[in-house]
Amino acid sequence: MLSKKMQDALNQQINAEVSSAYLYLSMSAYCAAGNRPGSAHWMRVQWQEELSHAMKLFDYINDRGGRAVLKAVAQPPTDFKSLLDMFQQVLGHEREVSAMIHRLYEAAVKETDYPTQIVLQWFITEQVEEEKSAAEIIEQLKLIGDQGAAVIMLDRHLGMRGAGK
Ligand code: FEO
Repeated sequence: MLSKKMQDALNQQINAEVSSAYLYLSMSAYCAAGNRPGSAHWMRVQWQEELSHAMKLFDYINDRGGRAVLKAVAQPPTDFKSLLDMFQQVLGHEREVSAMIHRLYEAAVKETDYPTQIVLQWFITEQVEEEKSAAEIIEQLKLIGDQGAAVIMLDRHLGMRGAGK
């Protein structure tokens, strides 16, 4: 059985994951409106990934005999200065999420809650990937600038992202 404290913390993380999903869907809309269909697709895949993260925790709470409780989701930003600015916000956001996961893990260690530690280890690994992919795109955008043929090529490349990657 989950402790009440751990259940509350995991519910807070469900909210963070759904909020991330909402942020990336908003970014997808920004890209679609700005004629960057590949980036819009990339963000849409990211939206689905975040929902799957939320559901992983939702199912885990239920599996441990707890109660998943859904909280309000705030309106995400709708406008960004550029593609580069948008991906920099992605990286900043993912770093915050990583810090949240690490705090959760520390709490699970303190409570000697081993099953929660194992579930969170998956998230810790996932966050390394999430930060890495955003950082790579930022590096590419810094190299090629925000306009021109190279951006169209990068956008095409982002459009090839498969589900769950
Ligand atoms: Fe679910 Fe992007 O962290």
